Amino acid sequence: MYDETVVAQAIAIHTETYGTKPTSVAYAPGRIEVLGNHTDYNEGTTFSCAINMGHCFCISASAKPGVRLTAGDIPATTSFDPKTDERLEKKFQWANYVKGVMRFLRDHGIEVDGIDCTFLGSIPMGAGLSSSAALEVATAYAVLDYTGKELGKIEIAKIGQKAEHDFAGCSCGLLDQFSSIYGIHHGLIHSDFRTLETYPVKLPDDVVFLMINPHIKHALSESPYNARRISCELAAKQLDALLDHPVKALRDVSWDEFIAHRDQLDPEAAQRATHVIGEITRVEQSVQLLKENKLAAFGQLLFDSHETSRTAFENSCDELDTVVEDARAAGALGARLSGGGWGGSVVALVHAADADAICQKIIATCKAKGLEPTAETIIPSAGATIVK
Ligand code: GLA
Repeated sequence: MYDETVVAQAIAIHTETYGTKPTSVAYAPGRIEVLGNHTDYNEGTTFSCAINMGHCFCISASAKPGVRLTAGDIPATTSFDPKTDERLEKKFQWANYVKGVMRFLRDHGIEVDGIDCTFLGSIPMGAGLSSSAALEVATAYAVLDYTGKELGKIEIAKIGQKAEHDFAGCSCGLLDQFSSIYGIHHGLIHSDFRTLETYPVKLPDDVVFLMINPHIKHALSESPYNARRISCELAAKQLDALLDHPVKALRDVSWDEFIAHRDQLDPEAAQRATHVIGEITRVEQSVQLLKENKLAAFGQLLFDSHETSRTAFENSCDELDTVVEDARAAGALGARLSGGGWGGSVVALVHAADADAICQKIIATCKAKGLEPTAETIIPSAGATIVK
């Protein structure tokens, strides 16, 4: 299922802007990262889910060459030549995600020209819910439908990732695009970023996730995200020289090996790796905990994750720490920052029956501390789709 409201609105805006109905319409959801923070580019594993908010992308043919693109929610329209490689100027950054996807689709022989496009999203910007990945995936699905071409899901995810790297300046992994593509209704997806395999995990019926957004501005391309990636790669390189087996990425280092050699590493790289190797270990522990329905222990891993984000990876901030503490005090089973960090949202695991009461408590206690958060229940949702 998809967000029908946003799809209907996107089609209406497209029809009004260009005077014709779109012939290809695609929808892709945002995501929450449940566990496995900054593990994707370290070839680790994650638990995440697609959410009930996303982006819709519409295309129709135009008599004019180039791509005309309307961002329905700004609203604004720009145009570009899809055969060129340069980024659009910063005020049109939203168009760069689309241009980037079209650029890398070309490497697969998939080209578009002479089209009118519109996109509209229901994901709040800067909330750490991967609105950019949803836009990239929706663009790719719509272009594939329009051109009648096919491409595997992993390739589509990699095209979105390349658009982030080259057109947005963020050296991200594949988590956001995978979550948007492979999401399932009321379930988590476990992703392995070495084998690039995913599998669905059903959530117990009596739990839900809350997303609490303290509304702090957040742009990963302007954050220390890329610097953290470099630190992790340095830790992996140094561990490769110290251990008696090859270390291609932090994924190859067990927690015990890391503890035994931590003091021989560059201190900052060791600090960042503490979080990442801890996270990979926690994801694997949680596989078993979820199978056994041990929700309190699973939730505790979310709190543990936030703690090393705060102290070792240093990708939290005061507002997110406050929300996590207030969620704990309000009775959440677990809570942690979700996604890149340095802003964005907190995800909290709660019993469904307690969701409203916990939401209200968190909002009240945060308000007393000067924050103005919003909180909503997330419905884990199906992944990207063509809208017929
Ligand atoms: C962002 C990136 C992802 C991932 C997360 C942190 O969402 O886009 O690739 O690294 O941060 O886990």
